[in-house]
Amino acid sequence: MRDPAHGQYLVIRERSHSLSPGPPTSATPRPGYHIRHIRPHCRALRIFLNVGRIMANPVFEALRTVLAIREYQDRDVPEDVVRRLAESGHLSASAGNRQPWHFVVVRDRATLQRLGSLMRTGPYVAGSAFAIVVAYERDTVLAVSDASRASQSMILTAWGDGVGSNWTGFGGLAEVATELGIPDSYDVLAVLPFGYPARRVGKGRKNRKPFGGVVSAERFGQPFN
Ligand SMILES: Cc1cc2nc3c(=O)[nH]c(=O)nc-3n(C[C@H](O)[C@H](O)[C@H](O)COP(=O)(O)O)c2cc1C
Repeated sequence: MRDPAHGQYLVIRERSHSLSPGPPTSATPRPGYHIRHIRPHCRALRIFLNVGRIMANPVFEALRTVLAIREYQDRDVPEDVVRRLAESGHLSASAGNRQPWHFVVVRDRATLQRLGSLMRTGPYVAGSAFAIVVAYERDTVLAVSDASRASQSMILTAWGDGVGSNWTGFGGLAEVATELGIPDSYDVLAVLPFGYPARRVGKGRKNRKPFGGVVSAERFGQPFN
């Protein structure tokens, strides 16, 4: 490694918690690589390396790139992946760990088509490879929040497996409950259709409000830098 004092050399040091003993603070370096000095014309390299660092967090990467997918290939999703998505719902956290939910995995094509006909805002459920119907205990406080979190878990896990999905509906799905024999003590929150995306998706191209418009530091309205 050459002398970095001139500020002209790219110095990449491996960061380690061993450099800063004691409990982590905001100043504690995180594991990974840190660029200390870099030539101005190497900025592209720095961006490239930063992208690499961000992508090293697969959870964030899934969240950053996931999009609502409404068209699916006519292709089955492997059973182990279907199982993993159901597990993602099952393993989600809930208030007081009550787990006030039930997930019905629907693979039967005729049933998927009937579900599509019942979903005013999601008729494309009919063309999915399978769907997971998310029901929650209607008398359990916070059950909607719990079932929402489980839904997000399943959508993100699916994306990690290259499977697209979306959230359709929001309650008021009594006919779906009847169709699937879901007991009266539950309401259906949403139907989540899954399948391999029919078209290439622009990963990460999201239409969102500006970050600064929805995130503050310390006090509402104070910019987060
Ligand atoms: C609670 C909730 C309900 C939604 N309901 C529907 C729906 O009924 N039909 C639909 O096509 N999309 C629905 N969506 C998907 C959103 O329209 C979509 O996520 C949003 O437009 C942003 O698009 P993106 O996820 O591709 O960035 C819903 C999303 C959420 C979080």
